Amino acid sequence: MLVNATNMLLKARDGHYAVGQFNINNLEWTKSILLTAQEMNSPVILGVSEGAGKYMTGFKTVAAMVKAMDESLGITVPVALHLDHGTYEGAKACVAAGFTSIMFDGSHYGIDENVAKTTELVALAHDHGLSIEAEVGSIGGEEDGVIGMGEVADPAECAKIASLGIDFLAAGIGNIHGKYPANWKGLDFDALDKIHNATDNIPLVLHGGTGIPDEMIKKAISLGVSKINVNTECQLSFADATRKYIEAGKDLEGKGFDPRKLLAPGAEAIKATVREKIELFGSANKA
Ligand code: 13P
Repeated sequence: MLVNATNMLLKARDGHYAVGQFNINNLEWTKSILLTAQEMNSPVILGVSEGAGKYMTGFKTVAAMVKAMDESLGITVPVALHLDHGTYEGAKACVAAGFTSIMFDGSHYGIDENVAKTTELVALAHDHGLSIEAEVGSIGGEEDGVIGMGEVADPAECAKIASLGIDFLAAGIGNIHGKYPANWKGLDFDALDKIHNATDNIPLVLHGGTGIPDEMIKKAISLGVSKINVNTECQLSFADATRKYIEAGKDLEGKGFDPRKLLAPGAEAIKATVREKIELFGSANKA
């Protein structure tokens, strides 16, 4: 059932668990995530980056596919279709395309421009019944082979953005996208606590969910994190299972080259990763 993410995240905040955002790249990804959320009776958020949207030929294609698949599979758990790290233009395009939730990432602007653009997009999203996430303090990650350490957001800036009517807030606390480097210092729980106290109990979002130790995930949830984004980990498990299939020569046996067979181990691996995360985040049976 396609819905915006507001209620599922307020419920998660009050129930002290987190809802997973799993990024999608194609039909197999979407199907694996929807079926697993349904099997576990868990709410779920499908994340779409601007790059993945382009890859799938545009946000309209994505919205049409997700809506139709949700219906065809008879999905009854709450599902939000959410733009991940949207630009100002991308956020507007997703509202028009039929997404149910958007993220506007204005973290690279100065605070005043972030405030102005977020304010405008809050009104647009809410007019159309969508939920909206905003960001303060950019999330690091790998770019051109260099891993940037994540920024730690300023609690006063978080308070400013949180007061604009957004539904949930992404704040950097030393988290980064992709694999964590060996010298990573871990999440900054002191900063998370300060941000949580400054933002009137708004549901907080933890990006870069891949590779964060389970204990840190649990502690983050106890300090107000209600949404956790996972992308790379599904890509790694898909690639690993697909490599094993090819290395075992299975594509050379009978009709093993049929994409429905070739992509099946990867699709099953995504399901296993999503299942594991839903268990860890505590959202099973919370639909
Ligand atoms: P990972 O790729 O590190 O799991 O991060 C996902 C994410 O935060 C998407 O916004």
